[in-house]
Amino acid sequence: MEGIIQPFSVMVAVCRNRGIGYKGELPWPHFKSDYEYLTATVNRCQPGKQNAIICGRHTWFDTGDGKNNTARYNIVISKTLSSYFSSQAPEGSNYLVPSLHDALVHASNLDYIENIWIFGGEGVYEGAIKHPMCQKIYITRIEADFEADRFFPEFENDYELTDDPAGVLTQVERGVTVKFEVYQRKQKQLL
Ligand SMILES: NC(=O)c1ccc[n+]([C@@H]2O[C@H](COP(=O)([O-])OP(=O)(O)OC[C@H]3O[C@@H](n4cnc5c(N)ncnc54)[C@H](OP(=O)(O)O)[C@@H]3O)[C@@H](O)[C@H]2O)c1
Repeated sequence: MEGIIQPFSVMVAVCRNRGIGYKGELPWPHFKSDYEYLTATVNRCQPGKQNAIICGRHTWFDTGDGKNNTARYNIVISKTLSSYFSSQAPEGSNYLVPSLHDALVHASNLDYIENIWIFGGEGVYEGAIKHPMCQKIYITRIEADFEADRFFPEFENDYELTDDPAGVLTQVERGVTVKFEVYQRKQKQLL
């Protein structure tokens, strides 16, 4: 699939040992502040517009979040589903593609999409943060260690911390600090 790709952002929650997932779920018990921040951020768009959410097959089927949410246009990445089921999008989603590139091109070319969000998992995040059109990483820091089998890749060399998110305070839930940060891609210096 050829076409332009619009700037996009990553949304992720990461624990201290960089874990993002364990046995198909989040490594930590539900943190209300993370969930509320995530939904408020990715659902925000102008009337008549939607935000595109792009995720891998496991994230789509393992997490119920986002299904039946009309503010979002859900794109699922799966080579296996694309070939076995003639590109029929999984129930509750809007579109099925075989690659991150195809997902980005598709979302970029829909005029009613306002923002494009990458929702994971591990391999999708890896592809996204290396992509030149990835502008921002919205990261919730869960300031504790949890057992994990999926991890968020190193990104700190290419992105820098911003002053965002304005007005969102660090929370403490069940003794664990939950911190909200936004990184932006560093501008390359010309020599
Ligand atoms: N902490 C967070 O913010 C966060 C966010 C999302 C998910 N998670 C957690 O992460 C885990 C799920 O993520 P996951 O990494 O196991 O799976 P995933 O990325 O959701 O799904 C992997 C599948 O997506 C397809 N895919 C398409 N493009 C890909 C690419 N570039 N790289 C890798 N896969 C690609 C493949 O499907 P086919 O095999 O069909 O081709 C692959 O098998 C769960 O534990 C979930 O709770 C955490």
